[in-house]
Amino acid sequence: MQAYDIAVIPGDGVGKEVAAEALKILNAAAEKYRFGLKVVEFDWGCDYYLKHGRMGPENKLDRLKDFDAIFLGCIGDAAKVPDHISLTLLLDIRKGFDQYVNLRPIQLYPGVESPVKTATPETVNMVVVRENTEGEYAAAGGFFKPDGPEGFAFQTAIFSRQGCERVIRYAFELAQKRRKLGDRNPVGMVTNCTKSNALNYSMVFWDKIYREVAQDYPAVKTDMALVDALTMWMVKNPGYFDVIVASNLFGDIITDLGAMLQGGMGFAAGGNINPAKKYPSMFEPIHGSAPKYTGQGVVNPIASIESIRLMLEHLGEDQAAGDIQQAVIKTLAAGEIRTPDMGGAHKTHEVGDAVRNFIRA
Ligand code: IPM
Ligand code: MN
Repeated sequence: MQAYDIAVIPGDGVGKEVAAEALKILNAAAEKYRFGLKVVEFDWGCDYYLKHGRMGPENKLDRLKDFDAIFLGCIGDAAKVPDHISLTLLLDIRKGFDQYVNLRPIQLYPGVESPVKTATPETVNMVVVRENTEGEYAAAGGFFKPDGPEGFAFQTAIFSRQGCERVIRYAFELAQKRRKLGDRNPVGMVTNCTKSNALNYSMVFWDKIYREVAQDYPAVKTDMALVDALTMWMVKNPGYFDVIVASNLFGDIITDLGAMLQGGMGFAAGGNINPAKKYPSMFEPIHGSAPKYTGQGVVNPIASIESIRLMLEHLGEDQAAGDIQQAVIKTLAAGEIRTPDMGGAHKTHEVGDAVRNFIRA
């Protein structure tokens, strides 16, 4: 029997609540599709920081490296630890395990209402492929006399040939695959999210590599949009988009907009992927730890459940992954169980139970 070692880092705030639902669904899928699971939980996060002065142990990557995949709830609790410190836990794993693709599918399911008027289940079906290890998040920079009148800070974005090439190639491969599946007939398309009119080194270089990679995929349509205009077009005409490839920071920004297209932060799932599988990949909802809702059991766990779907896809459990998605779709279409973000009064665990019932049915 195939078996997987899964690391779970529930993290802070509502992380524990959504991780419980994610695990519920992972277990249900394992039972039905007969694969084994060994789950190990790690208590890393802001409370760990208060005790140990660090977000996790020094050897955290060593502790994680032999797992098949990682599920992360969410990290951050600014009342306890400044965000730029707590979030090193997340960013260290993304970079340390070379999870250079941040895969963020954006789909609006029937029965879910988006605050954006143009968003319908017919128009919203795109994927953002976000670069996840370098760019604006390279952490290259410094302070000079930060407290003096002459003080300044600088932060340098790093765009390496390898870094751009591999993530853009992943986007083209994905567009090709979606086209074959008939997801976006008749053509697959990769929109290059850029800003090369103003960022005259980094984004000019990024565009050049985009054009080079595109040559290898003549069947995939090329397209480009400056990031500011892209946010406008995503709202005005979401149905136009298929795959969007973006640098780290731009991808971060446009996927919060994407979350609104798909109904809210409670629906937006993500995978931090090391495509070569040299290191474990990490799956997480893209929402934050929402301290003000912590402990109330009211947040929407769909984003976390969908992250488990992405995890199983990555592990090659396609049937189980497809089944989870169908169970999510049925739960949402039935419209009986709705957390407060959907206008209902149901609890986090009730959504997990409903999805699990459809998986078992
Ligand atoms: C995300 C988050 C993180 C990011 C933060 C918490 C560091 O916003 O996953 O989108 O910027 O990548
Ligand atoms: Mn973000």
